[in-house]
Amino acid sequence: MSFNKTKEVIEEGDVVILYLNPNNMHSLEVKAKIFSKKGEFVDNVFQTTYGALKVISLVGRKYGSKIDLTRGWAHVLQPTPELWTMILPHRTQIIYSPDISLIIHLMELRPGSIIIETGTGSGSLSHSLIRVIRPSGHLYTFDFHEQRVSIASTEFDRHGLSDFVTLKKRDVCLEGFGEELKHKVDAIFLDLPHPWLTIEHATVALKQTGGKLCFFSPCIEQVQRTCAKLICERFVELNTYECLQREMNVQYRSLSILDFECLKYKHTNEDITQKNERIETEQEEKLLTINHAQSLPGHTGFITIATLPPF
Ligand SMILES: C[S@@+](CC[C@H](N)C(=O)[O-])C[C@H]1O[C@@H](n2cnc3c(N)ncnc32)[C@H](O)[C@@H]1O
Repeated sequence: MSFNKTKEVIEEGDVVILYLNPNNMHSLEVKAKIFSKKGEFVDNVFQTTYGALKVISLVGRKYGSKIDLTRGWAHVLQPTPELWTMILPHRTQIIYSPDISLIIHLMELRPGSIIIETGTGSGSLSHSLIRVIRPSGHLYTFDFHEQRVSIASTEFDRHGLSDFVTLKKRDVCLEGFGEELKHKVDAIFLDLPHPWLTIEHATVALKQTGGKLCFFSPCIEQVQRTCAKLICERFVELNTYECLQREMNVQYRSLSILDFECLKYKHTNEDITQKNERIETEQEEKLLTINHAQSLPGHTGFITIATLPPF
C-alpha cells in the first residue's frame, strides 16, 4: 500500500524498493512468509548480490534508511512510478519516464482528470497517470489480453491504487470504450498497434466540451494513418513529437590554463588562416566540466497529440 501516499515508516504489506545501485534494484512485498517454488510456506528471505535479507525485518524501518545484508548493505526506498517503470516485470514493451513526462504534459492532466488508457500492457504508464489524477480523478484502462489484465489488476490492488483505476478486458478497436463512459472523459491515451481503429470510439467517450487524444506509435506510417483519421473526425491542432533524452557527463578534467596576457599566435607557412595554433602556458588545473554523452538513447516512439474542440 506504499504507492498511494508518502510514508515515513515501513509497515507489513508495503511494497518497497531495495536499492543496491542504479542498475540493481528489486521490489519486495513486506511479508513474513511466502510460498516457495516447491509450494511450501517458508520464511520470506530475499537473496541479493550482497547477501540475504529477512524481508519482515524491514517493518518499523524508515524509508530511505540503510539496511544490512549478510554480505553488505542496501537502501530501502518508497516506490514511485519512475522507480516502478525501471524495475517492473515486463509483459510487453513499456513506455519510459522521458516519454511519460511529455505525454502527461501534452494531455494537460491534473488532479480530477477522467482519462482512458489502452492498452494497459505492463502498467508502466498507468502508475504515472494515476499519480497525476488522484485523489479525485479516475483512470479507465483497457487491454484485450486476459493474463495482462489479471496481473495488472493484482498489482494495482497490491500498490493501494484500486480506488483510482478501473481495469477492463476489452478489444477497444471492436467494442469501443463502453456506454458508461459516453462523453465522460477529458483525455484518451492510445498505445496499441492500430490506433486509427479507435478514433470514432474516442469521439464518443470524450466530453462534449472537448478533450485531448494522445497516441504513441513506433512507426511513422501508424502516425500518418491515425492523423488522417483524426482530421476526418474533427480533431485539430495535431502535433507529433519525438522525445530524445540527451545526457550530460559531469567530471573533473585537467585543462590547460590560458594566460590571456601572453597569448601568442604562431602562423605556419602552409596555411596561415587554418593552422593558427595557440601557444599556451604549461599550467594545468583540475576543473569540473560537462560534456555530452557520445551516443543518444535510440528511438522509442512518436508521440502525437490532438484536440477535439467543443461540439
Ligand atoms: C505496448 S503494450 C502497452 C504498454 C503500456 N503502455 C505500458 O507502458 O506498460 C500494448 C498493449 O495493447 C494491447 N492491445 C493491443 N490491441 C488492443 C486492442 N484492440 N484492444 C485492447 N488492447 C489491445 C496489447 O495486449 C498490449 O498489452
